[in-house]
Amino acid sequence: MEHPDTLDNLLHEERVFRPLPQMIIEAGINPHDLNAAKEFAASNPEGYWEEAADELGWFKKWDKVLDETDAPFYRWYTGARCNIVYNALDRHIETVNKNRLALIWEGEPGDQKQFTYYDLYRAVNRFSNALRSLGVGKGDHVVLYMPQLPETVVSMLACARIGAVHSLVFSGFSARLLRERIKEIQPKVVITADGFYRNGQVVRLKEEVDRALIDNPADSLESVVVVHRANVEVVMDSSRDYWYADLVRHEKTQAAAEIMDANDPLFLLYTSGTTGKSKGIVHNHGGYMVGVHRTFNMVFDLKPTDIFWCSADPGWITGHSYMVYGPLLAGTTTVMYEGHALYPQADRLWHIISKYGVTIFYTSPTQIRTLMRFGPKYPNQHDLSSLRILGAVGEPFNPEAWIWLHKNIGRGQCPVLDTWWQTEAGMIMISPTPVSVLKPGSVTKPLPGIEADVVDSCGEPVPAGKGGLLVIRRPWPGMMSSVYKDNELIRKHYWGRIPGMFYAGDVARKDEDGYFWIQGRADDVLNISGHRIGTAELESALTGHPDVAEAVVIGVPDKIKGQVAKAFVTLNHGVSPSDDLSRALKEHIQRELGPVVIVKSIEFKDELPKTSSGKIERSSLC
Ligand code: WTA
Repeated sequence: MEHPDTLDNLLHEERVFRPLPQMIIEAGINPHDLNAAKEFAASNPEGYWEEAADELGWFKKWDKVLDETDAPFYRWYTGARCNIVYNALDRHIETVNKNRLALIWEGEPGDQKQFTYYDLYRAVNRFSNALRSLGVGKGDHVVLYMPQLPETVVSMLACARIGAVHSLVFSGFSARLLRERIKEIQPKVVITADGFYRNGQVVRLKEEVDRALIDNPADSLESVVVVHRANVEVVMDSSRDYWYADLVRHEKTQAAAEIMDANDPLFLLYTSGTTGKSKGIVHNHGGYMVGVHRTFNMVFDLKPTDIFWCSADPGWITGHSYMVYGPLLAGTTTVMYEGHALYPQADRLWHIISKYGVTIFYTSPTQIRTLMRFGPKYPNQHDLSSLRILGAVGEPFNPEAWIWLHKNIGRGQCPVLDTWWQTEAGMIMISPTPVSVLKPGSVTKPLPGIEADVVDSCGEPVPAGKGGLLVIRRPWPGMMSSVYKDNELIRKHYWGRIPGMFYAGDVARKDEDGYFWIQGRADDVLNISGHRIGTAELESALTGHPDVAEAVVIGVPDKIKGQVAKAFVTLNHGVSPSDDLSRALKEHIQRELGPVVIVKSIEFKDELPKTSSGKIERSSLC
């Protein structure tokens, strides 16, 4: 691969990085195979996705690969019976994978745990039995408010094994948001931890759950399961709360996997969207399993010797698809780290890579921008020679950070795969593979079976080099199956904004070579450090403060986080602007939405610009 000597013309988009010959020789899928797959998928999409499904185990095969009769409510693998956990665990127990490491976990203080596939299988079975004894069964909802712990993976898989629908709420979100989710989802069980370690501090998670459950937001809720992690004192309500360890202690290590319809829900995950409120995106057992399995293997070109580390949090879709389900479906080893990247110093990630011999590292541009501030000193102190592939997701990857990663972490030898997808997509959609020709800042081209394009608001393709809306022209198996309690959004919004095409909500352009460059969201969703946050959620939190009359929030560019939130606020009569009030409002937002939700600056205004119909004119503030 071409090796840049200087970091000069970083923003020149014509830089091209060709795969090293060795990478092509060793590739399971070489450029010829990839092109053949693209051609086959273009001429026979259902045949392509049928082949992908045939690589997995099914209790009963499908009657139809894709049912379009109720389009745009597409259904994949109709009539099929399966369970994603059967494919992620049971299948491997029958092979040499049985004693292979499935999960390597490291806590922030430095403690470690490792699970072979057989260990994980037994742990999941035990907890499946425990959940069943708490009365949880097929179709019941379970909310997980969990940090990065082995029990988080076990809980997700145990729910799926017994047919319950899991819903993770990111552990950096507040009690208020958790309460909203619990109210809407009406779970039978909430699973949490006493606390966890983050940047040298203990975050007391169970306390947040107790706050969220004040005055009983869900009549459905029968039990709260608490994982003992941080040794903090917690109040246990004897009528409702159970320690995880007590529940599993006497459970059997055998538990039958529930036979699910391919279109039964697996999980729901909330994400910010164009409409004000967050929405629960639903993925199901069959299509999601096929999409994640095929893309994980293809994009990362898995080898039996790989150790895979996705440094996302399980509370987001990346954690679901490529920290938990993808690696386990593929039978590889997945790494999980509980804590902060800068704790105890800025080499923690490099230390973990060298300690466990990580071969594939899937990260985010924000994480790289945060670490590159410290220069090459820290990576140089560690042996990173095990790495063979680097990947990123979640936000536009500026060429400067891309090249820093390529040079300082990848030794100029590891391809950097910038992968585009989203919660709704379930799986990687536009991405290079290790044998692609790379251009820093571009997500390259759609994977086989994905027909992506850049169009104007009428659906007409825009010429090369021009910005437009990113759309997907055909359904794909990993796509969301529904929107929880708001399914009309599929017809009205996702496949309705531009009739007949899936509207991704992103602005992009295609260059003369057909490479895609993602520019950012087309709607009022901010992308702060790769996390989707709706401006409407921030605005409603601000107007919930007694001193605030009106608020509007916009995203402004930031060198590290990609984007940060800036608020414009008018105050109630008699209240004067001050630095103290600005600080109080920032704290108010964190209390309302969670410690991860940071508003960088607040500007007080006498009035906000309005259109003639009285709507706030957001664009004039940008
Ligand atoms: C953005 C994360 C540029 C995009 C998997 C998308 C990206 C949103 C990239 C989805 C990328 C994701 N380059 N932007 N490689 N990947 N995005 O649902 O705006 O948390 O719509 O899913 O992140 O965020 P979500």
